[in-house]
Amino acid sequence: MKHSNIRYRGNEDLVFRSMTLGDVGTIVRIERESFTSPWSEEAFRTELTQNLFARYMVMERDGIVLGYGGMWIIVDEAHVTNIAVDEPYRGQGLGEKLLREMMHTAVWLGARRMTLEVRVSNETAQSLYRKLGFEPSGLRPGYYSDNHEDALIMWAELVTGRDEAAGTAEIEEGEQG
Ligand SMILES: CC(C)(COP(=O)(O)OP(=O)(O)OC[C@H]1O[C@@H](n2cnc3c(N)ncnc32)[C@H](O)[C@@H]1OP(=O)(O)O)[C@@H](O)C(=O)NCCC(=O)NCCS
Repeated sequence: MKHSNIRYRGNEDLVFRSMTLGDVGTIVRIERESFTSPWSEEAFRTELTQNLFARYMVMERDGIVLGYGGMWIIVDEAHVTNIAVDEPYRGQGLGEKLLREMMHTAVWLGARRMTLEVRVSNETAQSLYRKLGFEPSGLRPGYYSDNHEDALIMWAELVTGRDEAAGTAEIEEGEQG
């Protein structure tokens, strides 16, 4: 994959915050450029205003949205609905930082496990997920309606504060890598 060279400069100026209705135009632009079956503007608006289980965050620097991710927190499980980094900023560790932030947020909200579906052909995303501790648990045959591609279901055990106190802070592993 070719990456253009807009560089991420460091941790200190990277901001994670909740997605607002004012972000939706930018998010839908990134969504369309990232997915073959993108969510509509209306879908994001509904998630932000009507879904009490939903949590959406954006990652930005200097007021520029670099990426976003969403999840549903249902009791102690976090279901990732989408995650994307704007194309010019990919390959610089930002997707990993975003997913780590989502995992920490999920723990803070009471989740102990996180799950997601990913196209079997999306090796980039699968590589990121495996790096952060997700493991395959099964397939949903023909899950994606555009090309009937299978979805790989992945799960990760989240590390809670109690686990970290016991010295098993897996989420922190390789954070500098
Ligand atoms: C998946 C995505 C969020 C990754 O974001 P990113 O900022 O490019 O990823 P990072 O630079 O943080 O890389 C983190 C890890 O992802 C994997 N990865 C990233 N780019 C990769 C590539 N071109 N090929 C293979 N693996 C890659 C690697 O495991 C990498 O870890 P490493 O650098 O130690 O090898 C981004 O590619 C994206 O937005 N893709 C389009 C939307 C999408 O497919 N979302 C997932 C839907 S399930």
